[in-house]
Amino acid sequence: MLENLPSSVSLVRFVSMRLLKPLLNSFSHIRCLGALASLAMLPGCSWQSFLGMDGKQSTMITEGPVAQTQLNVFYVTCYVTFTIFVIVASILAYATLKFKARTQEEERAVPPEQGHGNPLVEVGLIAASVLALVFIAIPTLKAIWYTYDVPVADKANAYEITATGYQWWFKFEYPNEQIPGGGVITTGNELVIPAGRPVHINLRSIDVMHSFWIPKLAGKVDMIPNRGNLMWIKANKPGYYWGQCAEFCGDSHAVMRFRVIALSQRDFYNWLDQQSQTYRKVEPTGSNLGKATFASLRNFKENETGISGNFEVSPLDAWKAKQFPEKNENPDLIAKGKELFASKTCITCHNVRGLQGAVGVAGPDLTHVGARSTIAGGLLDNTSEQLQRWIHNPGAVKPGNKMWVNGYVLNNIKLTNEDEVALVAFLQSLK
Ligand code: CUA
Repeated sequence: MLENLPSSVSLVRFVSMRLLKPLLNSFSHIRCLGALASLAMLPGCSWQSFLGMDGKQSTMITEGPVAQTQLNVFYVTCYVTFTIFVIVASILAYATLKFKARTQEEERAVPPEQGHGNPLVEVGLIAASVLALVFIAIPTLKAIWYTYDVPVADKANAYEITATGYQWWFKFEYPNEQIPGGGVITTGNELVIPAGRPVHINLRSIDVMHSFWIPKLAGKVDMIPNRGNLMWIKANKPGYYWGQCAEFCGDSHAVMRFRVIALSQRDFYNWLDQQSQTYRKVEPTGSNLGKATFASLRNFKENETGISGNFEVSPLDAWKAKQFPEKNENPDLIAKGKELFASKTCITCHNVRGLQGAVGVAGPDLTHVGARSTIAGGLLDNTSEQLQRWIHNPGAVKPGNKMWVNGYVLNNIKLTNEDEVALVAFLQSLK
């Protein structure tokens, strides 16, 4: 191959034509190159998407002031270190080329006087290092204070939430939203907040250490047993945000997820109204059960994703659509599911407010589970198929989870396909 390269000019051409061009051609985001070159930040073609940094959990595209402040600190650190890199690399390159030994004589030359021990150089370098650190420390300290808790001026406006980590799901409580008859509004894995308003979150853990992370809204804060941690977030506008546990907490840590749904003030208060209601009752008609079709559950591959990712509408609109009753409800199937919910002992661990005996607290509150966009700790879409997959064999979806270990296995709970379909119909009816 080398004989094909007679001069350095052809080497450059070789590298650019034979190596770089196919590489660039194969690059899927090639259409972004022009936009990047002209620095035109077209929607969907930002530098973040060009570099593949525009995922659902991107920290490079922020949606609130806390995450933005943290991103700014990251940039300041990058700018300072990049500047140092350029200066050091330039001096190194200059020295390497300038003082390169070109003749045999030069190779044997006595080394020039060394900089070691030169007070001016040494003090200068120390001073420059300190200056660089101070330059990074000022915005860092400001960011630590700002992101720790809601700014004083905004404190009165802050909305209060308590988030508790469980192996492996999150409980969200609204301590100021009392429910008629006792208790407060409680939900699981989907934190609904008012957009444009600071939200103060008390972080708790019931078992082991978890870490609460909504990349687009705020950095991670640990949930520690027997210790009260706090954080605050604010979503600039209504939206649907992905969150995740960020501290190893056991078998299913990697699948411990959640969502944050930010709603306009009006939508938020409507949602609170809906949540404060007892479970939605669907009266059976008496004879429709025979018409129900009991399609068998298909086989799922191990670790097959349960999130479609393809929304016909925006994720937020899809979430809003889930607040309304399903179109093909079968009241008699729902009634049968409700009976099974008690007879199969689901009521021991799950609360369905208003349903006799369903006062369990070990698992998520299911009073309005049908109105959530996800189930199983944000792992699966809340569709009938995925919900049946979940209750069919929770241990296969989320290894080691309590519903499987302490429920199905310990109590030898067996569900037929018909049972599962009825339970799914009941749970989906809980809007
Ligand atoms: Cu909870 Cu990792």
